[in-house]
Amino acid sequence: LVCLGVNIALPFLQPGGGEAVPSLALFIGRFHPMVLHMPIGFVALAAMVEIGRLPFLRGLAGEISLHLTTFLLLCSTLAATVTTICGWLLSFSGGYDEKLLNAHFNAGIATAIALAVALALQTAAPVGRLSAAYRVVFLAACLFITVAGHKGSELTHGETYLTEYAPNFVRKMLGLPPLADPTATPPASEKEVYLGVIQPIFDQKCTSCHGASKSKGGLRLDSFEHAKKGGDDGPGFVANNPAKSPILHRIQLPASDDDHMPPTGKPQLTPNEIALVAWWINAGAPEKGPLSSFNPPAELVSSLGAEAAPQNSADQKQAAVEVEKSLTSVRENLKGSIKAIVPGEKSLQYVAGGDYAVVDDSQIARLAPIAAQIRLLDLNRAAITDASAPAIAAMTNLDSLSLQGTKIGDATIEAISALPNLTVINIYGTKVTDTGLAALAKLPKLRALYLWQTPTTPEGEKKLLEAKPGLQIFGEKPPQT
Ligand code: HEC
Repeated sequence: LVCLGVNIALPFLQPGGGEAVPSLALFIGRFHPMVLHMPIGFVALAAMVEIGRLPFLRGLAGEISLHLTTFLLLCSTLAATVTTICGWLLSFSGGYDEKLLNAHFNAGIATAIALAVALALQTAAPVGRLSAAYRVVFLAACLFITVAGHKGSELTHGETYLTEYAPNFVRKMLGLPPLADPTATPPASEKEVYLGVIQPIFDQKCTSCHGASKSKGGLRLDSFEHAKKGGDDGPGFVANNPAKSPILHRIQLPASDDDHMPPTGKPQLTPNEIALVAWWINAGAPEKGPLSSFNPPAELVSSLGAEAAPQNSADQKQAAVEVEKSLTSVRENLKGSIKAIVPGEKSLQYVAGGDYAVVDDSQIARLAPIAAQIRLLDLNRAAITDASAPAIAAMTNLDSLSLQGTKIGDATIEAISALPNLTVINIYGTKVTDTGLAALAKLPKLRALYLWQTPTTPEGEKKLLEAKPGLQIFGEKPPQT
């Protein structure tokens, strides 16, 4: 009777939604996932006993005492009541999908009530008789507990848990899109930067707790908008600002830190995945466009490609040897470093690096024989001037160019403004003026401009943005419009 009373009262108290409750309540609540196995076990046992009473199994199971049924029902009712109380307390920790939670909660309460009623019916039955009404109510309890269990697993594992790996014909019956064909994946560098690269990481390692049905810390990571909006502590990330991006901060914390994500014991991010998220935020957290258009470091692209498209390694080695051979003469007396972006492929990157002080116009001239192969040119702080402009303009496949801290000016920008593939350009701390910005508008593929400490004006930036609306400008704030 007490159990019945408690279970009838609980629905009126409503499952909680994250309001402040004493931590003792949450402490007890967290036993819910543990104790819930007891009523399931007892109910299963009572059901087995009923099956054992079926006429054709009599011979096998023998005469089963009615006391056993009463006893099992008593255990089930008590265990189910403890479970509903814990579950009710746990619901106050919040972060669950309300509809799912209510369905799970109601099914759980229904189970406990049905068990209590079944127990009462059987106790009230004449001695030595099995009540038929008991059987009906008990069957209902079995149904309720199945529903409660299923809804509970959707709450903890997400609604797609069961169907995620279902064969396509099952998915079709359920109206779900077919599973992606793994052999049809595009090359890693052509994957969509967010949906193809970053979201899959979140999907695998975060959305079981930060998704539609469960959003711990108020945070959902199942879409770009949700990730950006963030959780209880504010935005999930701020473009170009790792310090203000808790998503990145938390995955970079040591595993021993309480705030580390994913929590200990859950599948962790690989170093490559952490590097990808870090790169993405530093690259301005772009949402749309192929990965290659944001100039990601070659190692990251190949770490993605390694899983997506295993290559014939012998061919690859051979090709790598040939590319190396073609570079030997160029490398003579060359400062800085020239190498293949992906081993075995023809595309090259040149980085002035630590040699920046001695990389001058004559060094850039040495790259002429391989100009068409260069895709990435990093001339950070190099001692070059506008005299290098023709050499750079000859690099027709160039997609990423850093002229940061060099002495170049508008003449170089003018000269390179016909480069068909240039997508990212960094002109921090150069002498480029609004005239140069106007020339940049001619670059057909330009997507990202790093602009800071130049003689340009907000007016010039505004004009450039009008000419190229899709362009992202990093550095100074874009002009207010
Ligand atoms: C097993 C569940 C679980 C998984 C998996 C998980 N988290 Fe969390 N996360 C939590 C819980 C619980 C909180 C709230 C408590 C806290 O702030 O530590 C939280 C909070 C956060 C917060 C703070 C939100 C805010 O604004 O308060 C961030 C950011 C976060 N998680 C990122 C991640 C990322 C990124 C991943 C995947 C790499 C991840 N989490 C995976 C359980 C999880």
